[in-house]
Amino acid sequence: MLRKFNKRSFDKVFTRCEDPWRYSTSDYEKTKYLRQLEAIRKFSPQPQSILEISCAEGVFTDILSQAFPQAKITGVDISQIAIERAREKYKDRPNITFIEADAIQFVCRDLPSQQRFDVIIQSESLHYIFARLVFQRKLRSYWREIANRLEKEGIFVTAHAINIQTRFVLLTCYSILEKLCQQVWKAKYREWSDFRRRRIKYDVRVFRRVSAH
Ligand SMILES: C[S@@+](CC[C@H](N)C(=O)[O-])C[C@H]1O[C@@H](n2cnc3c(N)ncnc32)[C@H](O)[C@@H]1O
Repeated sequence: MLRKFNKRSFDKVFTRCEDPWRYSTSDYEKTKYLRQLEAIRKFSPQPQSILEISCAEGVFTDILSQAFPQAKITGVDISQIAIERAREKYKDRPNITFIEADAIQFVCRDLPSQQRFDVIIQSESLHYIFARLVFQRKLRSYWREIANRLEKEGIFVTAHAINIQTRFVLLTCYSILEKLCQQVWKAKYREWSDFRRRRIKYDVRVFRRVSAH
């Protein structure tokens, strides 16, 4: 499991083809991005700073940069190939910075201590980092760091397909997050995925930081 979801394995996925999960062409993914955007607009209408963890080739990062041109947006992904493509594709977006990094190290170690965000997003990737979080005994500290990295009233947004691989991971992460933040949005959807050729159930959640720094 740990080896399956490491940097090498994701680089392999991105080497095999461009946009491996069809993020830029699938209507299912577009709808999922729009639902996340809608949630951000509702709870943080004018964010100045956004962090997208596991941004892949930057499809949603780009949507965010157009929706919130005033915001400084940071996209992070473990795959060097994905980040290189994102940098190339969106080099004309002055408000985006792409960083190649492992989410756990980036959040728990690399982020400068004073840096905070109005919005942090991490979608379709919690199941990839979960085993390592448990193995490294960082499950709670990861979520504590995420909560601490939110500005006052800042929000954490997440969207994931619900299936046998993700259900336990999501419930565990949400239950930890609920102790650190207030869950302000929870919506379930079921939509046709042209890529998977079946209807897929996914949820979108928003957690808001409650305590002051
Ligand atoms: C299924 S894609 C999701 C892309 C994007 N979040 C979205 O919803 O459009 C999963 C992404 O997570 C990234 N990823 C996996 N493990 C990671 C880690 N430990 N740190 C950062 N990114 C990671 C992969 O490289 C891949 O780009």
